[in-house]
Amino acid sequence: MNLPKLRIRHIEVDIPIIQGGMGVGLSWENLAGSVAACGAIGVVSAVGTGYRHPDMVKRDKFGRPIGSYNIHHPESLKKIIRDAKAISGGKGAVGVNILAAITDYERVARDAVEAGADLIISGAGLPLKLPQYVDGADVALVPIVSSARALNLICRTWKKRYNRLPDAVILEGPMSGGHQGFRYQDCFKREFQLKNLFPSVLEEAKRWGDIPVIVAGGVWSYRDILWFIERGAAGVQMATRFIATHECDAPLIYKEVVLEAKKEDIILLKSPVGYPLRVIRTPFIEKLLSGVNGWKGCVSHCVTPCNKGEEAKKVGFCIADRLGAAWLGNYEEGIFISGANGYKLKKQGILHVKELLDILTGKKPDPSLSDGRRRVIIPLRR
Ligand SMILES: Cc1cc2nc3c(=O)[nH]c(=O)nc-3n(C[C@H](O)[C@H](O)[C@H](O)COP(=O)(O)O)c2cc1C
Repeated sequence: MNLPKLRIRHIEVDIPIIQGGMGVGLSWENLAGSVAACGAIGVVSAVGTGYRHPDMVKRDKFGRPIGSYNIHHPESLKKIIRDAKAISGGKGAVGVNILAAITDYERVARDAVEAGADLIISGAGLPLKLPQYVDGADVALVPIVSSARALNLICRTWKKRYNRLPDAVILEGPMSGGHQGFRYQDCFKREFQLKNLFPSVLEEAKRWGDIPVIVAGGVWSYRDILWFIERGAAGVQMATRFIATHECDAPLIYKEVVLEAKKEDIILLKSPVGYPLRVIRTPFIEKLLSGVNGWKGCVSHCVTPCNKGEEAKKVGFCIADRLGAAWLGNYEEGIFISGANGYKLKKQGILHVKELLDILTGKKPDPSLSDGRRRVIIPLRR
């Protein structure tokens, strides 16, 4: 079966797949632009953009961007978006993922609009004021939710305050990479799994006039995509599979860490953002679990709920510093994120985005589902 096109506001793409935003630095111009060039939606991550163009920003002696202006840097984000659009060659669409929890959220939303983002995707908190920040610009607004209740609250608030509704909604279940919109214990309960949350969110979206519902979190294969499309989803958002692509903006060591991960290495941690965070057990995580506090002060003031380092001190690490370290290729000190299915990437190996999208749209067999040996064996540099 051919997958249907995905339509969101003025956007129409041939492939109903959104490549999920991955911060810090996994989805910048190369990945987002390459996905869009294939006729899907590529998403640039707006967090930590100061790391991408360090020459543009003020940094401390360890290379950490100083303050929220420099960590979520306007000119750096604009350059990333414009470069992604150039790589896309005008095909597909290029969106921006902005965590609702970041400091300077309003300013970053305006930066994204100014750079010509086709859509803004926003989760990790409820983006209740987002329509106000885009000032009526013709940009699609797509909140991420984890329940029908959250979608209802966003719709009610946006309708009342701005006479606007979401152009689509992403329902993210608890197998996704990074932050989870659930309490730790709920991530494992049957009723909170994506397939079980989906009917109620679909129904809520219909109540507001058929808002397209996109599902995310553990969607892995063409068969999974078909399963949701056949039941009324407009598309899927996928991230973990895109880590194992040549075009993913992460350094090779990041891809190696995910490719080497075993199922039991992928765990949930408490994050300074206030949500469980899915990461891979690496040396820094082992130290953290053994009781070492790895917090080294607040330099970047990256997310509002952290309260300038107060929460980071409690959980033992600064999220910006640790994701920044991973992006800089520091295996010992970095934090490496993956979805719960990351261990399945071994069999896929590192592919080009085009090849991965051919697999996900059923045009090519899926190596990750075969019993064969992995295709690319990469030694892990330690
Ligand atoms: C490495 C990594 C980083 C991520 N960073 C973000 C982020 O900055 N903001 C966000 O909203 N979601 C983030 N996510 C979630 C993805 O955008 C996506 O919705 C989710 O991972 C989908 O599940 P999947 O990875 O099983 O396909 C991240 C996921 C991964 C794997």
